Amino acid sequence: MNKDIVVSGIRSTGNLHLGNYFGAMRNYVKMQDEFPCFFFVADYHSLTTHPDPLQLKPNVYKVLAENIACGLDPNKVTLYVQSDVPEIPELYLMLNMMAYKGELEKTASFKDKARSQPDNINAGLLTYPTLMAADILIHKAKYVPVGKDQEQHLEMARNFAQRFNHRYGELFPEPYPFNFGNELIKIPSLDGNGKMSKSENENATLYLSDTDEVIRKKVMKAKTDQGPTEPNMAMPDYIENIFDLMKLVSGNDVLEKFTTDYNNCNIRYGDLKKQLAEDMVNFIAPIRTKTIELQQDISSLQSIMKMGKEKARESASNVLDEARKKMGINYYC
Ligand code: TYM
Repeated sequence: MNKDIVVSGIRSTGNLHLGNYFGAMRNYVKMQDEFPCFFFVADYHSLTTHPDPLQLKPNVYKVLAENIACGLDPNKVTLYVQSDVPEIPELYLMLNMMAYKGELEKTASFKDKARSQPDNINAGLLTYPTLMAADILIHKAKYVPVGKDQEQHLEMARNFAQRFNHRYGELFPEPYPFNFGNELIKIPSLDGNGKMSKSENENATLYLSDTDEVIRKKVMKAKTDQGPTEPNMAMPDYIENIFDLMKLVSGNDVLEKFTTDYNNCNIRYGDLKKQLAEDMVNFIAPIRTKTIELQQDISSLQSIMKMGKEKARESASNVLDEARKKMGINYYC
């Protein structure tokens, strides 16, 4: 097994969708056999948008269950909840001393959130990238499987790691985003406007908990047009998106047939979407069923969380001790 450490997390807000699966979880599942992996539910990060306290617990259980339903094995990886590891907020505090207001204010995710929730521009939102860096550096991770939207946060995590090392001496490796393909992935929404998302664009996002009927309805509503007017025409974005989704869940023969039809100008978008809808149902239904089954056994989920918490704290407390020493916080030895 490779020795390089892998860390990644998913916020416990709303329902997980195909973007989370193909941008992140598919990589987690593949990486669990090759690397020492730490995966967690980022419940602290979800607090930046003030979720209803009554929703937090079921949401945390649901994200855990969905991770396992997608193929994560809690005996192979360390699967835990962020707030179960107090070493993370301690490192976050230390890293905040090295994070500057100007760079935090310039972060794209901060600017988006400041625009979408102008009455709640809290300090947690501003320092979101430092907490994320703490999540990663607390285990000295080198690889971070994430979607394209997290690229800037990873760049900031590298900056904070470098700054710490420069000021206090070498401790943290520089963490890099990871995807088994060459490039980071962004799964687009079905209406051609932006990406699939937990909270926006709900009718154009495919959730791992959607019923077969809802999946079919959403896919059949995906944006198309009159079809190509000349052979081998370049595809408009929204048609390319449908083909991209097909590449993820359909067989090669299916993909080839519809690509040839497109290039020959005899494609029927109704048939294309019907095929995609069925392939999507076959992909999502087993994950949905398994998630529901796991959610019914809360005590098993709690045991998994507890096991993850112990393993995560063991690794985190070692690294935190080293960081404290480097900073001079070692008054009793
Ligand atoms: P979150 O919860 O928004 O998303 C979880 C993962 O899903 C990916 N993702 C996508 N990938 C492709 N296409 C999409 N449409 C799409 N939407 C979401 C995200 O890139 C992410 O990998 N800040 C993080 C959570 C986090 C974290 C961390 C991640 C907190 N600490 C430390 C890695 C390491 C977030 O909000 O992800």
